Amino acid sequence: MKTKLNVQRLIGITFVLTILSISFFSCKKPKDCGTVNIGVSGGSDSHNQGQNCMTCHTSGGEGSGCFTVAGTVYNSALTSTVGSGKVEFFTQANGSGQLKYTVQIDSKGNFYTTADMNVAGLFPRVTGPTGTQQSMSSSLSSGKCNSCHNASTSKIWAD
Ligand code: HEC
Ligand code: HEC
Repeated sequence: MKTKLNVQRLIGITFVLTILSISFFSCKKPKDCGTVNIGVSGGSDSHNQGQNCMTCHTSGGEGSGCFTVAGTVYNSALTSTVGSGKVEFFTQANGSGQLKYTVQIDSKGNFYTTADMNVAGLFPRVTGPTGTQQSMSSSLSSGKCNSCHNASTSKIWAD
């Protein structure tokens, strides 16, 4: 009698553990970081201007692709986003040193890429639609531009 009960319990426990592990592993499966999602000049697929894109476009996040660099550029009046331009990454401040990467700003003012770029330690320079340039004088800790700009620091702008 006692043995039978233990066997039944064991089967029960095994069953529960199996279900748990199936649901655990299926939930844990991260959203595919292999998805390519790179902004182009004139493109209009992006959204959520001003938000920190990497709260969603990251491993395990709901957004498509894991961004290495992303943010939003506004006009100098901060009344709207720009419709074109580019963001470049230099080894030294104010567009000096070596140009390492260039990312295009789309028609919504967003720039984003899943390309393998390590911008930590580099200095961004933003060029707006009319060619005016703005440089960040300190080096980057990450490519999550909107995590600071919009929150603790003013929006990124360039006319
Ligand atoms: C609150 C979460 C969230 C934030 C913040 C967010 N996104 Fe998304 N994004 C999504 C989701 C969800 C999708 C749709 C994913 C899908 O269709 O598989 C998406 C899709 C996209 C697409 C379209 C990809 C395609 O293949 O059509 C682009 C481009 C994009 N996001 C760019 C951005 C940019 C740039 C930012 C920041 C300015 C940003 N996203 C902020 C959740 C977010
Ligand atoms: C950790 C916070 C932080 C992140 C992340 C960050 N910035 Fe900045 N950024 C600042 C601060 C603080 C300043 C003002 C001081 C300075 O220029 O270093 C600034 C200044 C700038 C400026 C100069 C214009 C102005 O308004 O003063 C530009 C352009 C800029 N950042 C672009 C970017 C871009 C593009 C990214 C993403 C690739 C980025 N920043 C990421 C904090 C940040």
